[in-house]
Amino acid sequence: MDQKAIKELVARSAVEHLVHSGMKLGLGTGSTAIPAVHYIGELMQKGELHNILAVPTSFQTVIACEQWGIPLFTLNSKEIGGELDLTIDGADEVDPYNRCTKGGGGALLVEKIVAYASKSYAIVVDETKVVEQLGLKFPIPVEVIPEARLPVQRALEALGAEVQLREAVRKAGPVITEHANLLLDIRFTSPIDPVEMEHRINQIPGVVENGLFTRKHPRVFIGHADGTVEQRD
Ligand code: A5P
Repeated sequence: MDQKAIKELVARSAVEHLVHSGMKLGLGTGSTAIPAVHYIGELMQKGELHNILAVPTSFQTVIACEQWGIPLFTLNSKEIGGELDLTIDGADEVDPYNRCTKGGGGALLVEKIVAYASKSYAIVVDETKVVEQLGLKFPIPVEVIPEARLPVQRALEALGAEVQLREAVRKAGPVITEHANLLLDIRFTSPIDPVEMEHRINQIPGVVENGLFTRKHPRVFIGHADGTVEQRD
């Protein structure tokens, strides 16, 4: 199976195992989470799922929900009341303890808020995302308010990170997040303690959030090239 087909497979598997009518759902961002949104939309159109209330994590997810007529709310809507039953999202890396890095698509801030507002949390990935140590291969994004770019960069370097401002494609200059901030992508050359690093990065003034997700333990669905899906609790 190619990677796109694996993403589709794993997204559908998570929906089949976890999504029921009447649920308040957090819906993730990226090329693995969006097929889950499409599948939920398909099941709703077929009448196999009813009364789904969705909270999206990005404009990409909003658009996908709008295309399928999935009713959209915010965490603050009366109908949601600040708490979700389940969130399904993708990840950039997953370690053996089901800790993740996220934000390759730039949506880490709302993704983390939505994840922590959910009673249960599922991550859908293809097998290329499984790693022994977080942050060595795929960069971890740090969302920063624009005024703090350089001081935050210096502070991250002092923590041992290589830092790169994320540049936009088809727009001159940096990526501007959905909350008007910048992204600093960081990489480490030696293993980090992800729990400690998540905490330390967020102590730097000017950091809004970072892409280490260590405190919310998800059920992880891993799609393999042989067409199987492994579940890791
Ligand atoms: C979006 O900001 C991210 O957190 C995505 O969930 C993550 O980058 C995984 O995306 P893909 O499924 O597209 O690899």
